[in-house]
Amino acid sequence: MNHFGYRNGVLHCEDVSLEAIARELGTPAYVYSDATLRRHFNVLADAFADKKVLIAYAVKSNSNLGVIATLAALGAGADVVSGGELMKAMEAGVPADRIVFSGVAKTREEMRLGLERGIFQFNVESLPELHRLSAVAQEMNKRAPIAFRVNPHVEAGGHAHISTGTPETKFGIAWHEAEHFYEVASRLPNVDPVGIAVHIGSQIMRIDPMRAAWEKVVSLARRLRERGFGITRVDFGGGLGVPYKDSEDPDSPTIYARQAREVLGNLDVQLILEPGRLISGNAGVLISRVEYIKERDGRTFVILDAGMNDLMRPALYGAHHEVLPVRTPAMGAPRSAVDLVGPICESTDRFAKDRPMPPLKEGDLVAFMTAGAYGATLSSQYNSRPLVAEALVRGDACVVVRRRPTFDEMIALERAPDWVAR
Ligand code: LLP
Repeated sequence: MNHFGYRNGVLHCEDVSLEAIARELGTPAYVYSDATLRRHFNVLADAFADKKVLIAYAVKSNSNLGVIATLAALGAGADVVSGGELMKAMEAGVPADRIVFSGVAKTREEMRLGLERGIFQFNVESLPELHRLSAVAQEMNKRAPIAFRVNPHVEAGGHAHISTGTPETKFGIAWHEAEHFYEVASRLPNVDPVGIAVHIGSQIMRIDPMRAAWEKVVSLARRLRERGFGITRVDFGGGLGVPYKDSEDPDSPTIYARQAREVLGNLDVQLILEPGRLISGNAGVLISRVEYIKERDGRTFVILDAGMNDLMRPALYGAHHEVLPVRTPAMGAPRSAVDLVGPICESTDRFAKDRPMPPLKEGDLVAFMTAGAYGATLSSQYNSRPLVAEALVRGDACVVVRRRPTFDEMIALERAPDWVAR
């Protein structure tokens, strides 16, 4: 469910035409829908209305301040994986006591930052990390609430690059060592092992593997409690998929929530969820303009002004994004197979091959759908292209939530050494 649709032949985000946004911001530009963000968050929040739950939005999926602030205002927490994400979440209004710090490589500085701000929980992924956190907390005379992220040896079933629940991946502590690690943690100074966390991957369409992982977590929580450990939280991670094509039909947030409740049963703990894509995925599109139509060797290349640096998912994972013309094509206009490519000097800068598209010409606008998650956050300045602009729409209002840097701003962070004669 999203709030993008055609009105009078022009694709709109809520009540604002994407043509108007393209005129105002230039292209390429990401456009997010406030109503969609709120709807997705609320579907999940409502499903747990009677439970102790912290919905810690995975900031990595879309870390625009406007997006985080929108969710923070609804009561969302944040799942962060870097000092930068922590600072952004707090700047956007997420209270420290709703922030979960994930990630396998937390630096001492990041630990200090989290402890100083008093975040809710550190999700610890190894013994060396545990020892470091204990030492840093001791130096600061603070206590660190921790959960171990366990690697449950469960195949998530999504794309191999975004699957994290098996032993070959770097994530989590070994399942068979978990109990021992809680003993170690309980003897270390300044860390409080209060939770167990799991996250088995992303863009998961069927939630059965999650059930297997969650059941392991819940059984471990029960065992640890019987042994006298103060486990008061379980973190079921993120990972529920969204449809990128009409034919895709991932399990719904309602079914997901029901499963979480079933698995928890009567275990009296606070549930933490870390949804990213589920909230931001369908809430954003990337608009781009056709620069050239190039016919060569029997192929048609539609060359866009957006490149793989702006939307990396197709190049990185072979991911599919629907591409819609911003103006509806004439009735009965024939579709023909084209390659949708960008301006980057790499053959991987191709969004789609042999994609049936209505007639397109230079200057036309297209929209990459379902680009709200891992779109702007994965973007780069490759080929020295300034980072893409972002806008947030509510009803008929549109706010630029990140403007495109100027060339001067982009260059200002760099300098040539003095030894070069210029
Ligand atoms: N929690 C942890 C510990 C994670 O590593 C992730 C995502 C999430 C939560 C949120 O997962 P979600 O609900 O968004 O599936 N760039 C890839 C996705 C990478 C996911 C990384 N971790 C893509 O574009 O498909």
